[in-house]
Amino acid sequence: MLTPAQLAAYERDGFLVLEDFVAPSQCDRLRARADELVREFEPGEVLSVFTTREQARKSDEYFLDSGDKVRFFFEEGAFDAEGRLVKEKAQAINKIGHALHDLDPVFESFSRTPGLQSLVGSLGYRRPLLVQSMYIFKQPAIGGEVTCHQDATFLYTEPQSVTGLWFALEDATVENGCLWALAGGHRRGLKSRFLRAEGGGTRFEVYDESPWPDEGLLPLEVKKGALVVLHGLLPHLSRANRSPRSRHAYTLHVVEAGARYPADNWLRRGAEMPLRGFE
Ligand code: FE2
Repeated sequence: MLTPAQLAAYERDGFLVLEDFVAPSQCDRLRARADELVREFEPGEVLSVFTTREQARKSDEYFLDSGDKVRFFFEEGAFDAEGRLVKEKAQAINKIGHALHDLDPVFESFSRTPGLQSLVGSLGYRRPLLVQSMYIFKQPAIGGEVTCHQDATFLYTEPQSVTGLWFALEDATVENGCLWALAGGHRRGLKSRFLRAEGGGTRFEVYDESPWPDEGLLPLEVKKGALVVLHGLLPHLSRANRSPRSRHAYTLHVVEAGARYPADNWLRRGAEMPLRGFE
């Protein structure tokens, strides 16, 4: 359970860093499983690239159908100018998403623990649902940047209810592309929504055109095993990783079952795989 001081800091800043939340052995177990999944993954003819720079255009079916699957997305920097993959598979994957927590036993047991359940309960959730999981590699030298965003843009509910749980599986530093957060920025309101367009694909619906401010961004340098809790409206980003070290992280997103989850949200599931909580 979070202390009143921790909850006050979370309300003030929109994020909370909990060092040593996960034992190093648990981090290693998740890393080993992710390595195994990548080894078993056979890329098809069309390789899906993850980029936040041209998200609406780049969203392809493979991505849009991944809400209830385990799928693999490549780093943009893993290809040459002619579009040929120039890195080994294990050094080329940007992330795995988005239902590891429901489909893979190792990720499932990491994601559903009494500790996490009580943490989420102390944030005020009555019936939390685990809506999405991602394993993020932030590969050495080519780890792509994630531009400034609010998670509620991608996981929109009415009222807003999404919270991000970001687990450092390795030390995250400015050098290898740690998170940066705009402290207190969760009070600014939602800037945009990423949704499915009527004729297929996706689009952004923009509510506030003003650019994100440059001042007030804080690097969240954390050690392996730390958990960073991110308010759904908190603006955050991570820069490209040009260092020789990877920066693996696992993220889980929680929404409230009582909040409305619109049918045009990009992330959806088949009826045979409903969202589940921590049980
Ligand atoms: Fe995010």
